Amino acid sequence: MDTDARQHLMLDSQNPAQYGKLPRHIAIIMDGNGRWAQQRGLNRAEGHRAGVKALKPIVKECAAMGIEVLTVYAFSTENWSRPQVEVEALWDLLVEYLRSETAELKAEGVRIQTIGNVGALPIRAQKAIDAAMRETASETRMVLNLALNYGGRDELVRAVNRWLDEHRPLSPDSYMTANAIAAHLDTAGLPDPDLLIRSSGELRISNFLLWQLAYAEIYVTETLWPDFNPMELHKAIRAYQKRDRRFGGLRE
Ligand code: FPP
Repeated sequence: MDTDARQHLMLDSQNPAQYGKLPRHIAIIMDGNGRWAQQRGLNRAEGHRAGVKALKPIVKECAAMGIEVLTVYAFSTENWSRPQVEVEALWDLLVEYLRSETAELKAEGVRIQTIGNVGALPIRAQKAIDAAMRETASETRMVLNLALNYGGRDELVRAVNRWLDEHRPLSPDSYMTANAIAAHLDTAGLPDPDLLIRSSGELRISNFLLWQLAYAEIYVTETLWPDFNPMELHKAIRAYQKRDRRFGGLRE
């Protein structure tokens, strides 16, 4: 048996789908690309390239397993403060990823969506996103949700302003509700994440999905993102399956 086949057999025998309830929505903070590159004497852009490479089998595995939504933090509203060459390299990688992967993602039933203020991205990135979203619009197996120029605070501010625009002029009995906020977020219509995975050991949320992560189970691994693989994903889901989710109530 070749290594690939052995790896698949091992993955199948440990497939979390056999063991318990799967998260409907997994969110990932793909951290550690820079450190991975530094450890190898490479530049940071090479780390991000390795990060994109690591993402591909994770998307595939999530779709195969029956995860409904996978949200990945690809660029935050704070990432603009990085050196311009690194920022440009990230947009180039995004364009390259969408151009080279969209057909395969479509074949796997993946619909590409985005959250974040995408209108502020370079035009080449916006065009690639539009094309990928159009091409995969009718797919229903899994949503791959790319967080691009995304910040949880920015999203909440935009949601409230969207609501205000719809309700002007404001009558004295107009009040905000939790449902109204959720319906005006970029994630409107998607279930909240059940599981948040963060790679490279940092114990922070970093302005990611501040509203939606209210009851998510958090799993942090020391593994740097470029080294994260489907086995690691299974480990995270198995850990999730052992958690006692009470949503503020008592154990059943
Ligand atoms: C954090 O690592 C990672 C990012 C800021 C970008 C994540 C992006 C990718 C994995 C690639 C782009 C994705 C797509 C979909 C094309 P870091 O640079 O903060 O690492 P460090 O903390 O070790 O410096």
